[in-house]
Amino acid sequence: MISTSRIVVFWISAFLLLMSCRENITPLRDNWEKAIPQQRIPTGLVSIRASDCGICHQEIYKEWQLSTHAHAWTDLQFQAELRKESSPYLCINCHIPLENQQEYLIKGLIDGDIYKPVKEKNPKFDSQLQEEGISCSTCHVRDGYIIGVNGYPNPPHPVKIDTAFLSEQICLTCHNANAVVTPELVCTFETGDEWEAGPFYGVKNCISCHMDTISRPLIEGTPERTSHRHWFAGSGIPKRKGIESKGLEGLQYKTDTLASSYHVGDRIPFEISLTNSYAGHRLPTGDPERFYIIELVWESLDDHQVVQREEFRIGETWEWYPEAKKLTDNNLEPGESRIFKIDFIPKEYGTYNLTVKVTKHRMDEETAAYNQLGEEYPLSISVFEWNHTIQVE
Ligand code: HEC
Ligand code: HEC
Ligand code: HEC
Ligand code: HEC
Ligand code: HEC
Repeated sequence: MISTSRIVVFWISAFLLLMSCRENITPLRDNWEKAIPQQRIPTGLVSIRASDCGICHQEIYKEWQLSTHAHAWTDLQFQAELRKESSPYLCINCHIPLENQQEYLIKGLIDGDIYKPVKEKNPKFDSQLQEEGISCSTCHVRDGYIIGVNGYPNPPHPVKIDTAFLSEQICLTCHNANAVVTPELVCTFETGDEWEAGPFYGVKNCISCHMDTISRPLIEGTPERTSHRHWFAGSGIPKRKGIESKGLEGLQYKTDTLASSYHVGDRIPFEISLTNSYAGHRLPTGDPERFYIIELVWESLDDHQVVQREEFRIGETWEWYPEAKKLTDNNLEPGESRIFKIDFIPKEYGTYNLTVKVTKHRMDEETAAYNQLGEEYPLSISVFEWNHTIQVE
């Protein structure tokens, strides 16, 4: 039998324990620790899923499906990284940013530790919406309204006009995140800062460059409007083999001209210049794992031997352990040009060919192998190729 005094003692200690736990739970701050609060479905719609917006806004939906935004959750590398213990819960807040997309509601952090979130099952979790990653509703649904900027008459859903919300500011919430999360984990997306410091600030912004305008009806059978492409074209490196990917061209290339014949012992200098002419930020930008390789190769066409080869890299290098530290950074500033050279002195008669290749890489092969990303995950694309053949007499 349990005495009353023992019950009292039990309740007092339970109460004290509860209070001490409470004291250790710290509230979430705004810097990506929080998801966008649960959104309700605007009246007139059946859900806030892209697939349902797409029933009416068919063309925009098809464009968005090709965007990397649509793959922000399903991306193989993201999934591989999310499984690691070193990835805190907050990774998902830019990749599936709405609470509706998240299996758990995060109520706070024990002792302010991002590896100890206080989780609660989310009764309104929508797994289909989760698959959609950065979906229509990320940018267009708040407080039961569709956020728009135009005010067209009689849409079948309530529209709130908010030009400040639906400006480049919304892009910056995810594309400009600079923070040391833990010693080994830093966020280094500085695309917004790079744009603000560059020549396009006040002239063109994320939306004018990444969402081309086009005149078309927003749904079939309605008048044409000024509309925007929704494929958010960027690097053009596809997310899976076989998936179409829309890319933009940021670089301009200028190659030297070469003669068609030379003599043994001639010095044959050659230069190619790369200029970041069309991007409103550095190149590469964002993800620090991205880089370009510039490869210059002289080959003898008589015996298919490489006789001279130069390779250059544009990108950052990092050391992640024990502390994340940027080691080098030679990314191209907006407007900046860089010259790459190869000098060749043929020692024998014959036919020689110079090949210039510029490739853009999502990450190096070592990282891909470490994450076991497999054959399905494209690591690079070719962005420039040029060649020239000479006779040496
Ligand atoms: C039943 C059809 C239908 C569905 C479903 C639908 N829309 Fe619309 N939407 C329209 C029509 C019609 C217009 C007005 C078109 C016009 O007048 O040119 C419109 C207008 C808009 C606008 C422009 C508002 C403005 O004035 O700037 C946005 C943004 C928008 N819809 C987003 C969405 C999103 C996001 C979803 C899904 C959550 C969605 N719509 C679902 C039919 C639909
Ligand atoms: C003047 C036009 C312009 C502006 C302004 C601009 N971009 Fe870009 N952006 C480009 C081009 C062009 C590329 C393609 C670069 C390439 O791969 O050749 C690009 C590439 C990207 C990429 C892919 C990463 C990479 O290294 O290729 C991201 C992400 C991006 N932009 C985001 C943004 C955001 C966010 C903003 C606003 C802060 C912005 N851009 C402003 C033109 C622009
Ligand atoms: C990453 C943010 C983002 C996502 C995701 C997004 N949109 Fe938009 N949307 C915008 C911006 C920005 C505009 C242009 C605002 C302006 O005119 O300045 C826009 C404009 C629109 C318009 C008005 C017509 C036009 O093209 O300008 C419609 C309709 C629309 N979006 C529907 C959708 C639908 C449907 C989806 C999902 C399939 C979607 N959007 C996904 C940011 C987004
Ligand atoms: C909720 C966070 C979020 C918002 C808001 C957002 N983005 Fe993104 N964006 C991402 C993520 C995450 C990716 C990468 C997805 C992946 O690679 O799996 C991405 C990818 C991109 C890319 C493609 C990069 C490449 O590899 O080529 C471009 C371009 C881009 N975003 C532009 C924009 C623009 C323009 C806006 C504003 C209209 C915007 N984004 C708003 C998170 C966001
Ligand atoms: C502040 C918003 C934000 C947070 C938080 C965030 N990401 Fe991202 N993530 C982005 C953006 C923006 C991009 C696209 C960058 C670009 O293409 O320039 C991206 C792209 C990626 C990619 C694709 C890279 C590629 O080469 O295509 C992976 C993988 C990824 N993030 C993993 C993570 C992991 C793991 C975490 C947690 C440690 C995380 N992200 C947290 C915004 C975020």
